Amino acid sequence: MTNARATRGGGAATALDPPAPSERSLARHLLPDTASIAPDGRLSVGGVDVTELAEELGTPLFVYDAAHLRARCTEAVAAFGPGVAYATKAFLCKAMARIALAAGMSLDVSTAGELATATAAGASPDRIVLHGNNKSLDELAAALSLGISRLVVDSFDEIDRLRTLAADAPSRGRPDQHVVVRVTPGVEAHTHEYVMTGQEDSKFGFSLASGAADRAAELLASMPGVALVGVHAHIGSQIFRLDAFDREIAALVPYVVRHELRELCVGGGLGVAYVAGEEAPTIESWARYLRAACSAARLPAGVSVTAEPGRSIVATAGLTCYRIGTVKELPGIRTYVAVDGGMSDNPRPVLYGSGYEAFLPRSTGAERPFAARIVGKHCESGDVLVADARLPADVAVGDIVATPVTGAYGFSMASNYNRVPRPAVVFVEGGGWSVVVRRETVEDLLRLEP
Ligand code: LLP
Repeated sequence: MTNARATRGGGAATALDPPAPSERSLARHLLPDTASIAPDGRLSVGGVDVTELAEELGTPLFVYDAAHLRARCTEAVAAFGPGVAYATKAFLCKAMARIALAAGMSLDVSTAGELATATAAGASPDRIVLHGNNKSLDELAAALSLGISRLVVDSFDEIDRLRTLAADAPSRGRPDQHVVVRVTPGVEAHTHEYVMTGQEDSKFGFSLASGAADRAAELLASMPGVALVGVHAHIGSQIFRLDAFDREIAALVPYVVRHELRELCVGGGLGVAYVAGEEAPTIESWARYLRAACSAARLPAGVSVTAEPGRSIVATAGLTCYRIGTVKELPGIRTYVAVDGGMSDNPRPVLYGSGYEAFLPRSTGAERPFAARIVGKHCESGDVLVADARLPADVAVGDIVATPVTGAYGFSMASNYNRVPRPAVVFVEGGGWSVVVRRETVEDLLRLEP
């Protein structure tokens, strides 16, 4: 069982030794699978010239490699089996949901909005898993009336709501709703505090240590209209050191045995490389590691082991293109390069101190001797996209600049701060492209007001 090197971790402010920003050309493994660099340095993804695409569709622009998305979904299904769910919070639109479904994945949703998007994309209820630490009565009722595949139960209040809603299920001829208990295994993964979820002090799930998780299982096992089938935990996100999963599994296995469960879901959490010097395990090797950990913890044969990857499916498939509007050199201090997006399309640097790289897709292979701070257009100094960017020496106002590895938790966490409309999302493949989410307009924003 080997672990990838723990480094900056694209946001693990707690992590060790951030790799120094490199003057060298952009590392190939930070680009999508189908990226190719022409002899003159121009980047194509899916056979489409990225600079031309950004010129044509405008900026900021999220560009996704559809083949890369499909390949990661296929890898997850091959590694875990068809029960594996894509964590839609990482990036969701109907086109993404369809790719995950076509590859055989289920969809993990955690709000009515994600549920409605999954359904609109054609997900059948038996491919939907509903999460949420504070599901509303409406969200629970929608899930039950659809008859989703798994409901992940998170609190005693939810159990009370479920009791009321599920009571008449048998009389309506509805099959029992399969439920899973979300537990906090008391494991602290080595990642940013804001995305750590397995520790005892958490808003998620039922504590194993206090006995709350056992009480929840007993209540659910005796409740009419529901069938308790499994246990679920999610210890955090952007995890490089896989040994945290050993501890998670070791904590869950006795619970599985005690309650005679047939499913164990480890959640998501697999990290991805954001900057040069980082390397992450593949989904396939993560699955292998987890299976070995389950054997070591003596998980009974016949219990299925599954997961909910989000970031590792979509992060590297996506990149964001911006246009440079000003270059401000402060002698003896630094140079600021301002672009036409910012913390509204990528809040991760501000929220978690996440590191990114930057490059010019018109000269992708170029050395990057020019040190600059890439900032957005929002009205605060904290609006930083790449604190220590390296760019080619000839970078100029008007250039299209790109940040790679923005496919996860970028578009999905985008906001309208400063009334900035959210960017378009385009999928590229086979030399063509399709806009899967059109660019928001100011009219879209004004439409909500009388
Ligand atoms: N399952 C559950 C129950 C989760 O809460 C999450 C992520 C996942 C699966 C997927 O985890 P992944 O494979 O993506 O690590 N906004 C943060 C990440 C928050 C993760 C929330 N839960 C970021 O940008 O780093």
